Amino acid sequence: MLLLVALGIVFSFTVVTTERVENTNHKPTSPPLNYSWISLPPEHLPYFLYNNKKVAKQCRLDPLCPFKDALQDLANCWGYEKNCDPGKRFSYPVCTKADSGWTHSLDAARELFWKQADFGYVQERLSELKTLCKASKPGDSSLKCSSQTRFCKATNLYLDLRKPRRSHERYREDFIQRGEIGGLCRLNKKALAAEGEHKSPLQSWYAELQTYTELDFDPIVDGHCDIIIEKPTVFMKLDAGVNMYHHFCDFVNLYISQHINNSFSSDINIIMWDTSFYGYGDLFSETWQAFTQYDIIHLKTYDSKRVCFKDAFFSLLPRMRYGLFYNTPLISDCYSEGMFRAFSQHVLHRLNIPQDGPKEGRVRVTLLARSTEYRRILNQVELVNALKTVPSLEVNVVDYKYKDVPFLVQLRITHNSDIFIGMHGAGLTHLLFLPDWAVIFELVTIQPSGTIPSLPTIPLMWRSSCASCWRQLITSHTIPNGSVGLFMMNSRVSVNVGHTHQAAEELLT
Ligand SMILES: *[C@@H]1O[C@H](CO)[C@@H](O)[C@H](O)[C@H]1NC(C)=O
Ligand SMILES: *[C@@H]1O[C@H](CO)[C@@H](O)[C@H](O)[C@H]1NC(C)=O
Ligand SMILES: *[C@@H]1O[C@H](CO)[C@@H](O)[C@H](O)[C@H]1NC(C)=O
Repeated sequence: MLLLVALGIVFSFTVVTTERVENTNHKPTSPPLNYSWISLPPEHLPYFLYNNKKVAKQCRLDPLCPFKDALQDLANCWGYEKNCDPGKRFSYPVCTKADSGWTHSLDAARELFWKQADFGYVQERLSELKTLCKASKPGDSSLKCSSQTRFCKATNLYLDLRKPRRSHERYREDFIQRGEIGGLCRLNKKALAAEGEHKSPLQSWYAELQTYTELDFDPIVDGHCDIIIEKPTVFMKLDAGVNMYHHFCDFVNLYISQHINNSFSSDINIIMWDTSFYGYGDLFSETWQAFTQYDIIHLKTYDSKRVCFKDAFFSLLPRMRYGLFYNTPLISDCYSEGMFRAFSQHVLHRLNIPQDGPKEGRVRVTLLARSTEYRRILNQVELVNALKTVPSLEVNVVDYKYKDVPFLVQLRITHNSDIFIGMHGAGLTHLLFLPDWAVIFELVTIQPSGTIPSLPTIPLMWRSSCASCWRQLITSHTIPNGSVGLFMMNSRVSVNVGHTHQAAEELLT
């Protein structure tokens, strides 16, 4: 019922918006756009165009624009834009209870969850943006940051790496001294100094920006740059590239930062800020192709030079306090499919991962086996045999070792699973890429008491399997003592191994 009402509103607004834009469209326009850099999943296009009115306008006038369909419903919005009607947001969380520790009403709970883990998170960061260094005239430099310097945007940024203090430390906090980073703008020193409380390698950019200096020359115009980087640039400090969960904390935060900056072009440079001599071990490097057409650039590439960046942002970081999706405090009894779903769609689209199902009469089951000591399934054979007794299940046991299974192949397998079973752990980060209809079983070890303890374990699960990021999870359960339980996350049913096929059959009916 509610949905119908909302659709009605969307519809009437579409008409109004269309007319308004068309009425102002009598001027000649700039040369045709190259649309290929936009490359977004079709379902995201209306949202993108809503927030990029100039592109929408050009598309309307250009008979060859491939996004004509998306122009039909330009009333939809991600949710964080100014003037975005809450009823037309990309997503809205569902809450079944108002957790009294957090709020007193269901509406307040939904709004809170939206700010904690959905596009409201972008809105919060946008609302915090503060100009720390102000341009006096067009063409000068500028620096703007969200609170605690967790996301910053800089123009005409000057970076002097002529005497780099490079060492074995990846994130040296004294790497950049006064005068070595800055711009021609009026610096609010007090305001900058107030944003340093989270100073720490993967929590804020304060260590890098605390020495930001107000220059008395225009670095670019006055010839103080050995290199001028015209291409928009993203600075990132990366978490462990060998662990899917940690590395995806990098990618998710890059994606969220692109929403803050409102640009998804892959014609950008990504520079990994790293103060060591070392390279970066990356088992998931194919994922970068969803964000840039170029190789990732190590900061040391610019050593011994003064480099100037015309347009740059410093990405949200992978281990921020109250960040996503590490250390995320979340109100309970709510779930949402918003921002993480958008992330998944974006990455799958850009990496060209196809969906070949669902298949009539066949259910594709993927069992993720892991060979590391603490992640083995002791009775895996028994479990697989139990699954195989159900004729319609097509059981595929995979061990996602990057050497044997390239990451894009892993994504293809995962995205083509209807049921995904795996041991609790970082490997379950894969479930970000399951299709909408998939069902997940997370294998967990049961405490001697026979329960999955609700408190200390849940935050731990949040941290180490992103299962919970978008299909929120678990209350406490009783499972036969001492067994490894099959835990079905999105319908809150638990069964022991012997009952696997029974659970599977329940799913199919
Ligand atoms: C548009 O950009 C893509 C890559 O970004 C390039 O391959 C293509 O040639 C461009 N098309 C035109 C018409 O310039
Ligand atoms: C950030 O947004 C601006 C437009 O406001 C755009 O010109 C720039 O390319 C974007 N930067 C990155 C790194 O995408
Ligand atoms: C589980 O087993 C332990 C000993 O193995 C026992 O002390 C405990 O009471 C059992 N719990 C339940 C719920 O049966």
